[in-house]
Amino acid sequence: MDGIVAADLMALQERWTGTLLEPWLTQLPSQLAQGFSSARYGDIPRWHEALLSLPKICADTVNLCNDRVGCTGSITEGERTQLTTALQGLHPWRKGPFQLFDLHLDTEWRSDWKWHRLEGALHDLSQRRVLDVGCGSGYHSWRMLGAGAKEVIGIDPSPLFNLQFRAIQHYLRQPNINVLPITLEQLPSKLRAFDTVFSMGVLYHRRSPLDHLIELRDALRSDGQLILETLVVEGGPNTVFIPPNRYARMGNVWCLPSAVTLRGWLEKVGFKNAQIVDVSTTSTQEQRTTPWMTFHSLEQFLDSENATLTAEGHAAPIRAILTAAAP
Ligand SMILES: C[S@@+](CC[C@H](N)C(=O)[O-])C[C@H]1O[C@@H](n2cnc3c(N)ncnc32)[C@H](O)[C@@H]1O
Repeated sequence: MDGIVAADLMALQERWTGTLLEPWLTQLPSQLAQGFSSARYGDIPRWHEALLSLPKICADTVNLCNDRVGCTGSITEGERTQLTTALQGLHPWRKGPFQLFDLHLDTEWRSDWKWHRLEGALHDLSQRRVLDVGCGSGYHSWRMLGAGAKEVIGIDPSPLFNLQFRAIQHYLRQPNINVLPITLEQLPSKLRAFDTVFSMGVLYHRRSPLDHLIELRDALRSDGQLILETLVVEGGPNTVFIPPNRYARMGNVWCLPSAVTLRGWLEKVGFKNAQIVDVSTTSTQEQRTTPWMTFHSLEQFLDSENATLTAEGHAAPIRAILTAAAP
């Protein structure tokens, strides 16, 4: 992993020196070393091998605006087999879909559906520096770059998702996008450097949701736009559901507010013009088992007799998207 870390450091040093992100450069070397430490994550050497075994093929065109982010170009049968084996070495692929040459990487999630729900609410991303908190494999980060952002930084503590991003980048070769193995809490405090910050699918994993909103606020420049997406429940102001145990088989779900409660929380920590842009029930067409994610998925996380309930008997997953402006 030393080569990957060194390449990231060199690129970001060049790009961030003299910008508002320069203070981050001091902590970045130890954050990258920690995030990719095989002492902490025993599977890293195996995933790294998979990444190194990707065939070297030149793409003819790169598609960042298609629902299947990826590239076109011709490949031989042998290269296709090698590509499939290498990418299967990075299983499970949760966020996508991607298309590499003639290979459709059909991920667990149709993440393009979420993108379409939010894209109409985005301030024009051209010339914006964007942070994608909890970016997973970087699917939405690619869409942000495709929408014109001048720079996209995705952060996600999962080393597997970081390496999945690098597998796609191996073919797309875009200079102004990086995915780094860190959490939002590890960002230098009060950076106020980003024009747009996305936090999608992260808030319900945080034990302290208001602290998460404050950290998002402090990553944004004044008037910068926040796009917040999370699991919610039906209800009015001050409705919050705290699952006593698991929720839809997930063990790390802390807090599900109603969309209106969430809007109130945004206002409470100082955001302006908080708006609910979308509320949608997650369907088993949007999140499902595929050849690229062969484990159980939403269908098995719901009550087999009543799809409006989770397996534990709680209301089935609903997700809301909100936008707000930083103070
Ligand atoms: C449900 S996924 C959402 C992925 C993507 N943003 C989306 O909306 O499809 C949540 C991601 O957040 C990451 N995550 C969890 N806690 C985080 C934190 N404190 N800071 C940054 N990312 C975090 C997880 O590793 C996971 O990949």
